[in-house]
Amino acid sequence: MGLTALCPGTFDPVTNGHLDIIERAAQRFDALIVGVLDNPSKQPLFTAEERVTLLKEVTQGLNNVEVEAFSGLLVEYATQRGADVVVKGLRAVTDFEYEIQMAQMNHSLAGVETLFMTTAPQWSFLSSSLVREVAKLGGDVGGLVPPVVAERLRERFA
Ligand code: PNS
Repeated sequence: MGLTALCPGTFDPVTNGHLDIIERAAQRFDALIVGVLDNPSKQPLFTAEERVTLLKEVTQGLNNVEVEAFSGLLVEYATQRGADVVVKGLRAVTDFEYEIQMAQMNHSLAGVETLFMTTAPQWSFLSSSLVREVAKLGGDVGGLVPPVVAERLRERFA
């Protein structure tokens, strides 16, 4: 039986950094589920449905990748989907401080293992929140997100 990994996130919106981790994880596992957090208590720029649609568009060439929204506890979703591991990207030590807490909590709650992949250096400065801010202020995010995402951001802030 093959190994299934779960790559969870908010993806508001998906960036080239996310896509790099998704592509590399898809090469290392038999199946990769991209889990898009639908958190009703937050007000994202893009709805969960829109984020799922964008992720599906930018991963359509990856045959072993599935994109789906989830809500509630990550460990419950991971268990329900039969994921063997959770995969997260690490940009810097500052990410690690928060990520290790979540990884240890998820392991303590349900024995869910987290594997970390280092972000490609060219995307280590990149975050969805900075992309949103730059796009909102009229900056060019063309080199930071897939073209379809850049287009959707332009429409949103037009
Ligand atoms: O892209 P993000 O915003 O850094 O992703 C964070 C995410 C979605 C992985 C995290 O917030 C999460 O797992 N949320 C689900 C709720 C949950 O399980 N919380 C407890 C985490 S220890």
